[in-house]
Amino acid sequence: MSISRRRLLLAGTAGLLTRPVGIAVKASAAKSGRLPIELSQQPMDHEMPVEGFVDEITPTEDFFVRCHTYTPQVKLADWTLKIDGLVERPQSFTLADLKKMPRTELVSVLECAGNGRSFYEPHMSGAQWKFGGVGNARWAGVRLKDVLAKAGLKPGATQLLLDGADVPLGKMPDFQRTVEVKKALDPDTLLAWEMNGQPLTPEHGFPLRVIAPGWAGDSWVKWLQHIEVLDHDFDGFWMKTAYRHPSHSVAPGTAVDAKDMIPVTDLNVKSVIATPGSWVKPGAVPVVGVAWSNGAAISKVEISDDAGKSWRLAKLTGKETKYGFRKFSFAWDAPEGKHTLVAKATDSAGRVQPMQEDWNPSGYLWNVAQGRDVVVSVKRPPAADAVPASSATPPDAYKAACIGCHDDHMMRQQRMTRAQWEKEMDKMTGWGADVKAADRTAIVDYLSSQFKP
Ligand code: HEC
Repeated sequence: MSISRRRLLLAGTAGLLTRPVGIAVKASAAKSGRLPIELSQQPMDHEMPVEGFVDEITPTEDFFVRCHTYTPQVKLADWTLKIDGLVERPQSFTLADLKKMPRTELVSVLECAGNGRSFYEPHMSGAQWKFGGVGNARWAGVRLKDVLAKAGLKPGATQLLLDGADVPLGKMPDFQRTVEVKKALDPDTLLAWEMNGQPLTPEHGFPLRVIAPGWAGDSWVKWLQHIEVLDHDFDGFWMKTAYRHPSHSVAPGTAVDAKDMIPVTDLNVKSVIATPGSWVKPGAVPVVGVAWSNGAAISKVEISDDAGKSWRLAKLTGKETKYGFRKFSFAWDAPEGKHTLVAKATDSAGRVQPMQEDWNPSGYLWNVAQGRDVVVSVKRPPAADAVPASSATPPDAYKAACIGCHDDHMMRQQRMTRAQWEKEMDKMTGWGADVKAADRTAIVDYLSSQFKP
């Protein structure tokens, strides 16, 4: 959001450090009865449980939510979309203005770049998504290219700098992203105000968000209010440091030189099994799930019940859409015993899900064809004993410095080494965490003994 307005609002966020974290919206069960997995309450990071992958279109209330900061409550009366920079005619649109332009609808998967991060070995910092940082919705709005045509791109325009109404916490860098003009002019790239037939909810970007089909969620800027057209690459934190991955394969755990890191754009081909869960009775068991890619249709899904030694074709069901989920189903004659089910998708561009991870330092774009252990038995096996929660008391300095912008959901989900916690402390003090020099060791001792690999 704009610098002057931001300064004003930033002054207002200073008090958040001492405010109790009671502002969190408590997760409530959706119509489907599914509860989201709460990675963090505020900023809100909610993941869909795997059972959600039975749906071709993900109901909005089940759809994952990823926020870098608190969800802004935008009032339509105060909102416009401004376009300036390298344009012939700077523009300011109300939502009513945009709705007068030709409406376009599109079904597309939206997947968080970090979906699956928790599976990488070695672990890294960040939201520890498992499977459900992805969903498929019907989006409606206008083509970005039609909106840009009103402004008229000047020669030399290469990037669009996209900014939403979200306000950073403390000294964290504002979430701003660029997309290349080429992607912006793609007729499938939209500015949407509708998700599954309803206005966007605040968590999903009310009143307007970017739809960049085939690309990871970091480009799908929410609460969009400003587009600045540039003739150069933008070097803000969320472009230059975050959301980058190596341009070539690296050995797990390797530090990668910044010059070998490129922005995350296209999604990978991927599939997830929704059912069965961890236990079924012997007999005919349907194995059901979805597969998707970056705009190339899914051409086949194979299923293995022996951890990938042998494969059989699943049936593709549901509708084929360019960017959406493709459902699959496999009639499994489940014999008694322990089995490892695996689904492996191939897209029409010939890309196949790998069996091994292609590690990257920030844990983006995980798409391994992953085993799911299933016990097939007449009687339900006894539940494994729950691991007792850690009982160590955090030092007071930790509570003072680290609980406020967010609660300890952020820390509890991590499994990091001491060296990684030291780096995280540097990041958070840089963003405004007030850590006294004398307290730092006690905080790092606590974090690295409680939330370790
Ligand atoms: C000024 C506000 C603020 C304070 C104070 C703060 N954090 Fe954070 N922290 C954030 C925000 C905002 C995020 C979410 C970033 C995102 O989603 O990209 C975050 C995310 C995290 C994460 C998830 C990994 C990551 O980097 O995104 C960890 C772990 C974490 N904080 C630990 C801490 C610790 C430990 C402290 C105390 C030393 C602390 N935080 C204090 C703002 C803060």
